[in-house]
Formats: sequence, structure tokens, C-alpha cells
Amino acid sequence: MAAVHVLPEGVTITSLKTASTVLISTTSFFFPTFLAALLYFRYDLYDPETQVFDQQTLLPEYDFIVVGGGSAGNVVVNRLTENNNWTVLLLEAGGYETELTDVPILSFFFHKTRFDWNYRTQPSQTACLAMKDKRCVWTRGKVLGGSSTLNTMLYVRGNRRDFDQWAADGNPGWSYEDVLPYFKKSMDQRNPYLAKNKYHATGGYLTVQDAPWHSPLGVGFLQAGEEMGYDIVDYNGEQQTGFSLYQYTMRRGTRCSTAKAFLSPIKARKNLHVSLNSQVTRVLINPQSRRAYGVEYLRNGVKSRVHAKKEVVLSGGALNTPQLLMLSGIGPRDHLTDLGIPVIQDSPGVGQNLQDHIGAGGILFTVDYPISFVTNRIMTSASIINYATQGKGPLTSSTGLETVAFITTKYGNITDDWPDIGFMLTSTSTPSDGGKVVRIAQDLTDEFYEEVFSELNYKDMFGILPMILRPKSRGFVKLRSANPLEHPLFYHNYLTHPDDVRTLREGVKAGIAIGETEAMKRFGAKFHAKPVPGCRQFELFTDEYWECFIRQYTCTIYHYSGTAKMGPSSDPMAVVDPSLLVYGVTGLRVIDASIMPRVTSGNTNAPTIMIGEKGADMIKANWTDRELERGT
Ligand SMILES: Cc1cc2nc3c(=O)[nH]c(=O)nc-3n(C[C@H](O)[C@H](O)[C@H](O)COP(=O)(O)OP(=O)(O)OC[C@H]3O[C@@H](n4cnc5c(N)ncnc54)[C@H](O)[C@@H]3O)c2cc1C
Ligand SMILES: *[C@@H]1O[C@H](CO)[C@@H](O)[C@H](O)[C@H]1NC(C)=O
Ligand SMILES: *[C@@H]1O[C@H](CO)[C@@H](O)[C@H](O)[C@H]1NC(C)=O
Ligand SMILES: *[C@@H]1O[C@H](CO)[C@@H](O)[C@H](O)[C@H]1NC(C)=O
Repeated sequence: MAAVHVLPEGVTITSLKTASTVLISTTSFFFPTFLAALLYFRYDLYDPETQVFDQQTLLPEYDFIVVGGGSAGNVVVNRLTENNNWTVLLLEAGGYETELTDVPILSFFFHKTRFDWNYRTQPSQTACLAMKDKRCVWTRGKVLGGSSTLNTMLYVRGNRRDFDQWAADGNPGWSYEDVLPYFKKSMDQRNPYLAKNKYHATGGYLTVQDAPWHSPLGVGFLQAGEEMGYDIVDYNGEQQTGFSLYQYTMRRGTRCSTAKAFLSPIKARKNLHVSLNSQVTRVLINPQSRRAYGVEYLRNGVKSRVHAKKEVVLSGGALNTPQLLMLSGIGPRDHLTDLGIPVIQDSPGVGQNLQDHIGAGGILFTVDYPISFVTNRIMTSASIINYATQGKGPLTSSTGLETVAFITTKYGNITDDWPDIGFMLTSTSTPSDGGKVVRIAQDLTDEFYEEVFSELNYKDMFGILPMILRPKSRGFVKLRSANPLEHPLFYHNYLTHPDDVRTLREGVKAGIAIGETEAMKRFGAKFHAKPVPGCRQFELFTDEYWECFIRQYTCTIYHYSGTAKMGPSSDPMAVVDPSLLVYGVTGLRVIDASIMPRVTSGNTNAPTIMIGEKGADMIKANWTDRELERGT
């Protein structure tokens, strides 16, 4: 570590070392150079003052306890501590984010590290058949910032109809007109043209910007869209259908996680305590009064309790929140009884209604020019220094995700602006990194990778990932045991609904059509038509073949949601009411992606942040009113 001497006094690089050890094994040359450059040029980033303080001694009681410092939790903490009469404790199972997790191009490197819960689904015959043991890898942030610290930073709100449907399902206050102000409240849109229209805003905590770097393919995709008759749109604005360059939760070319956006600026608030490496093991609920009065948590192997005077807020994300509810006695009665967990509230919907977006991996086109994102060509000392000094260049690229398209297949309603397929258009594909990172992150089998991709290692190419926006298949989460440290069991049930199969199959065909436009042919685009193992019994490119194909290299887009769904009291599967209060107990809310009754038609980070804003506002309104009534 040659550059250690530039560190400010008192700053250690332990966190960096741990992160880099994992990484150095994959690209041994790259990381030392990278770290040295970062340390040299951006040592200001190492200033521990920029992150919230990790409180060692906690109070016995706080007004509010928030469990999980992820996309939603950090927003809630920020907004509740605006009232300086209230004390707030944030308990987060992971540790700090680092300078490396900030680097957009590196996000895949952190899958399966200590920043990840390291979850895998149960084996299944319906999808992820090209993955080891037929299990999908379900990456999830276990770090301050949660999944917003590991994600690919795409800022996508979804469709206005999604929220109107939530409202129509019996959730007043959640229509598009109701939630738009909460999207805008968070936002600091850095694109001056977008900032002017009524869908965007400036001055919020969350920075949203355009990519500082594009390959020629990024604009090529837009031209392909125009050639196919689509509009170029602001997909977060008036019309979602069309093609667009992505908007990102980035600040000056680096990741803007919700920890950076919502916690760092308020680190001086005296009414905020943050406790890291603290895993909540259950919510304490008085069985007589049915009131949540605190939580039990583990820190450094020590079990402790801390009490909440007003409310406990669960923001552990759609995989961990249902686990915590069940460990606390809220869930399907039979399941809890089987595991010997005393039932406080029989709530059959806990862990059910699990939705995710999936895409069909492996659709790629080779090109004739050195214009794509080939790892060992792009990651040079020059680009490292460009990133470290100016926040520019290819290292600011979110793993080559440049352009997005939303379309409606023949199974949707084309006169309606409510697309059923989204495309991630990338200046890279699985073999662009020589099989060193993405293949490992996704657990592709060696056989599949060797056969389909290895001939293309480090070649120039682009990728088209069609993803299904409103899946009808539903998975679920169950406890493996009553031990909170054991991973829950995850059943994805992908592609079990026939409508999902045919929609995604049409998406594949439309994706290939994008690659075959004149706009893309200019780059010498050639579809990599290699038949995939497992589907050789079908005639190539028939519907039967494509159905088989999408079940092999099935890509999660990591949008797990819906496992503690919001709904009216008449819906027995609803877990929380439209105020996000858990049915059957008091003093307990869920505020995270679990509450989505139906997943939005786009990536889920922005809507989850919106849920955090709206949830916090409802808590504030509620408790402020009551305090006024009591005259306190
Ligand atoms: C690899 C990846 C890429 C993605 N890419 C995008 C993208 O580009 N754009 C987009 O919009 N969305 C993306 N997503 C999805 C998006 O990031 C998530 O939907 C969103 O972050 C979910 O927010 P959340 O608050 O529900 O949960 P999380 O952000 O996951 O937060 C949950 C937090 O709670 C903590 N926690 C959990 N259990 C406990 C416990 N028992 N005790 C204490 N703490 C606990 C966790 O450690 C975590 O910090 C991606 C996700 C992943 C994983
Ligand atoms: C805090 O409490 C004081 C005294 O009760 C009250 O005057 C003030 O309005 C409260 N502040 C907020 C933000 O509610
Ligand atoms: C399609 O959408 C349009 C516009 O919203 C609507 O008027 C029409 O009824 C829809 N058609 C079908 C078949 O649902
Ligand atoms: C306010 O709190 C009360 C008591 O917990 C609850 O019944 C009510 O639904 C809450 N309202 C909102 C908007 O949170």
C-alpha cells in the first residue's frame, strides 16, 4: 500500500483492505493501482467525518427504532429526526459503505462479499436452470445504504398506472397524484432540462444525474428505437413508453446511496443514534396489549434489548422484513406453530405475494469496433486516474447500463402507456469481463458458460436484457427455523404463470429486433445465435425454444417486493394498512419494498425511497397530532 502516507491522521484503511482482499483475487493488477489512485487523489473521501457516527453505547429507550438502514430506512430516519423532540435509533446489520462501493463500474464485485446477505433461492425446475444447483443468487445489501449501496443506480419510478392501481386495490393516498410529491421531495435532479419539467425537482437529498460517460452504443440504441418508431422520452415524466438514456442515483460520477444522501448530511443531529453491525432478531410485543415496545438485537455476539416509546419501524427489505415479522410471532399460524414460535397475530400474508422482475440473460450481439465495455481494455491507469481526480470516464459507468426502453408486447394494450417489457441495453454482456465477475456473481455453471460464452471472452459486444414488468407469478419466503441467524427459505416460482412465459418470450423477440436495426448494424452487430445447453431438443428460435431459453439463464433484477403487502382490512392477505401499520398489533410499521401490493413497472429503488418519504410523513402527522391533542 504505497500511498498510505496520504491518509489523514487517525484514518485507517481496514475497511478498504477487507473489501479489496476479496477483489484482488479476481483482478490482481487492477485494485492496488485503483486504491493507490483513489487514496492519492480523493483522500478527502476517507474522512470518517463524512459518515454517520457508529454509536457504541445506546440509550435504554428511544421514541422510534428503525430496523435496517437501506433505501427506505435511511429516509425514515432522516425525516423523523427533523423533529428534535424525538429520539431515533437506527439498527443496521451491516457496516459502513466504502470508497470502493462508491465506484459505479465495480458494483458486481460486491456480490457475495460481506456487503451481501449471500442469499440463494431454493432449487426449482422453472427458472435459473443454468445456475449451480438450479438456484438463483439473490443478492441483497448488508451494509449501510442497504441494496442502494450494491445496486446499479438506475433511477426509475415506474408507471403512473402502477400507483393508481395500488389506490384502486383499496389503498387511499397511494395514487400517482398522491405519490408524485414524495418522489419529488427527495430529488435533486442535476440535468437542467429535466429539472425544469413538473415531474422533477431540485434541492432534495437524493442526487439524480445523467451518465458522465457513454460508449457510442448508448446513443446507437436510441437511434435503433427511433428506427423502430418509438419516441425518445423522459421515462420518469409524461410518457414511459419509448427509448431513453438512463437517469442514475449518482453524485459527481460516484454512487449516491441512501446513506450518502440521507444520513451523512444529518450526522450532527443529537437526537439520532446509529448502531452498525447490529442485527435485530425479533420485535418485542406485549401479548396482552399487543403493542410493540422494542427490539432484541445482536451486536458482536451479545444479545441486548432496546425499547421504543412510540413506534418500531421495520425497513429490513422484502426478504428480511417478513423473516423478522415471523420471528416476532406475526405470520401464518400453522407455519409459526410448526417452528414453535408463539403466535401473536395470525397473518397469512406475511412472506407471501413475493414478486421480482426477471430478464432473459444471454442475448448479445458482437460488434466490429472497439467501442464496447471490455474490462481489461477500459480499466487502465488513465481511466482510474480520470475517475479518481474528476469523477469522469468509463469507471463512472454503471456496468455498461446505458439505455433503457419500455415497450408493450402483443399481449399488452398498445394504445395504453403501460408497457409490459423493459429493456436494459448495455455496452457489455456476460463475457465482456472474461467470465471473471458477472458469471461468478450469478453462479452460472461452468458447463453453460464454457459452451455459450467462453469463445467471446473480452470481445466487443452489446447486450439486450428484456425484463418482464408486471409478473403474475408469485413466490414466497418461509423460515427455515426459529433461529434468526439462519437464512430463510426463498421460493421464487418464476415463470410458473403462463402469461409471464409468453410475455417474456415476446420480449426476447423484440430485443433481438432492436439488435437487428440498421442503427446497430452500422457497428457490425451480429446476434450470438449459439443454441443453449438444455434446449437442443427444440428447433432453434421457435416459441418452444425461447420458452426453454428463458428458463436457463434467468436473471433476477433484484427487485424482491410485496412480502408484507399493503391492503384494506377486508383483504386477509394484507399485512399492513394504507398507513403501513401492521394489522393486529400497535406501534409497528413496515416501511420498505415489502409493502408494495404489486411491484412497479420499473426498477424498485426510487419507489422504495418514495415509500420511505410517505411513510415517515404519515408517522409525523400521526404523532404530531396526538402530541398536540395531549398538549405536550
Ligand atoms: C444487485 C442489485 C442491483 C439493483 N439495481 C437496481 C437499480 O439499478 N435500480 C433500482 O431502482 N433498483 C435496483 N435494485 C433494487 C433496489 O436497490 C431495492 O429494491 C431497494 O434497495 C430495496 O430497498 P429496501 O429499503 O426495501 O431494502 P434494502 O435497501 O435492502 O435495505 C434493508 C436494510 O436492512 C438491513 N437489515 C435487514 N435485516 C436486518 C435485521 N434483522 N437487523 C438489522 N438490519 C437489517 C439490511 O442489512 C439492509 O441494509 C437492485 C438491487 C440489487 C441487490
Ligand atoms: C418540541 O417541543 C416543544 C415544547 O413542548 C414545542 O414547543 C415544539 O413545537 C416541539 N417541536 C416540534 C418540532 O414539534
Ligand atoms: C386499452 O387502453 C385504452 C386506453 O387506456 C382503453 O381505452 C382500452 O379500453 C384498453 N383496451 C383494452 C382491451 O383493455
Ligand atoms: C395513527 O395512529 C393510530 C394509533 O396507532 C392509528 O390507529 C392510525 O391508523 C394512525 N394513522 C396514521 C395515518 O398513521
